[in-house]
Amino acid sequence: MPTLQIIYASTSGHTEYVVGVLKDALKNDKKLQIADCKAEAAKPEDLLQSDVLLLASGSWNTGGIEGQMNPHMHDLLQGRVKDIDLAGKPVAIIALGDDRYFYTCRAGEHMRRFILDHGGKLLGDALLIVNEPYGQEERVRKWAATLSKSLATHNA
Ligand SMILES: Cc1cc2nc3c(=O)[nH]c(=O)nc-3n(C[C@H](O)[C@H](O)[C@H](O)COP(=O)(O)O)c2cc1C
Repeated sequence: MPTLQIIYASTSGHTEYVVGVLKDALKNDKKLQIADCKAEAAKPEDLLQSDVLLLASGSWNTGGIEGQMNPHMHDLLQGRVKDIDLAGKPVAIIALGDDRYFYTCRAGEHMRRFILDHGGKLLGDALLIVNEPYGQEERVRKWAATLSKSLATHNA
């Protein structure tokens, strides 16, 4: 059974909510085993042990500069696992943001760079959720369906 590890960072609960909607949608995929953990609790092995990885983060002004990842995802990717080798692992991205900020959803770009710089493979297009996720559940479900198909074609 293919395994999907979700690692997410969420401060006001938006990203956590999106991950919840995604997990509900993926429950229909009986062939998939899903685990999730918060970025602050993630260990290096959590990025490596599953067939497919999903990174999810809101955009933040980490370090005083807008357009960064959530501080917890920043600490994980730029700190604890900064030298990790993803060894070709397929990785999907969910990025949240708000259109009041110039660098809207820019966390997605930082995660994309991390994946490519560490030998990972991007799995499909990133899901970008601009503004509050409430009312955007259908987009998440559609993206989940596409993710399911990609997982099948990757034989993950
Ligand atoms: C201090 C702060 C800085 C933010 N910086 C950005 C930003 O640079 N770009 C952006 O698109 N959204 C930015 N946002 C909006 C959040 O990314 C957005 O509200 C997101 O849904 C929060 O997700 P979370 O509740 O999972 O942490 C910022 C929000 C806060 C509170």
